Amino acid sequence: MAFAHGKILLLGEHAVVYGRPALAAGLDRGMTASVVDGGGARLQIPAWGVDVSPADSSAVARAFAALLGALPGELGGPTVRVEPGIPGGAGLGSSAALAVATARALAAHAGFDLDDDALFDAAMAAERVFHGNPSGLDHAAAMHGGLLRYVRGMPPSLTPVVANTPLSLVVAQVAPGADTGAMVGGVAERRARLPVAIEAALDAIAALVDRAQHAVEVGDVVSLGEAMTVNHGLLAALGVSTPALDAACHAARAAGALGAKLTGAGGGGCVVALVDDASADPVVSALAESGGMVLRASVG
Ligand code: MEV
Repeated sequence: MAFAHGKILLLGEHAVVYGRPALAAGLDRGMTASVVDGGGARLQIPAWGVDVSPADSSAVARAFAALLGALPGELGGPTVRVEPGIPGGAGLGSSAALAVATARALAAHAGFDLDDDALFDAAMAAERVFHGNPSGLDHAAAMHGGLLRYVRGMPPSLTPVVANTPLSLVVAQVAPGADTGAMVGGVAERRARLPVAIEAALDAIAALVDRAQHAVEVGDVVSLGEAMTVNHGLLAALGVSTPALDAACHAARAAGALGAKLTGAGGGGCVVALVDDASADPVVSALAESGGMVLRASVG
């Protein structure tokens, strides 16, 4: 059995594509993969009705083929079966966790050591199939869990962040997730049309990430919540929010959340709200009204 974490982006999504820092939290739930006997090289996710060979044309099949091609070592023709512990396409990093868990299962089955650099590069090959120009943030969070500051680069910079007090989060799926590659492409187009304004927005997000990291480290949840809320406004300026995501953030804050924002690529998917003991239940109730999955997570 090999595991990889789902993730919540606390701040910095999209800006991270352009070299700004981001703060991610690995979830306790994620994807679990194991190699099963027989069947040749296949990737199976029975809960999602997925059963593909690397020669198939679907995105998941091509991502599997890319992963097999990028992994070092002799793999044979293994069938990998994956159990999802997070919803797919909701902004919780399911494709990244799928790639990391599958790579770990394949390496363990074939009996070779997969160091972090080789795992990161293999997962990047799979993520490129899904997302075109991934920053690597999602699969860094899938690999490591915990709280992480990430900056894209060659090599990327990954810094564990130690929280003064655990963060209490409510995550709610507001709508089906949009295509991450398309959302990243939309930001690129807006940046090409409005370079000065969008660069300023990306710099503002970077400043919020720094402030939020400090707030996490000293246990200042009020400042962290404010940074998350302002980050949501800047994500809306980048063009990746929707009326439903905005409404969910407003509802969470009206119910007492310290801050709320969309999380992930936007265009649909999830919001994340920072709560305290008093606001946790009211925020869960408020977000449950949109009818999608609501989960609580404690991170750090
Ligand atoms: C998606 O979970 C995060 C984005 O920043 C894309 C990326 O980092 O590759 C939107």
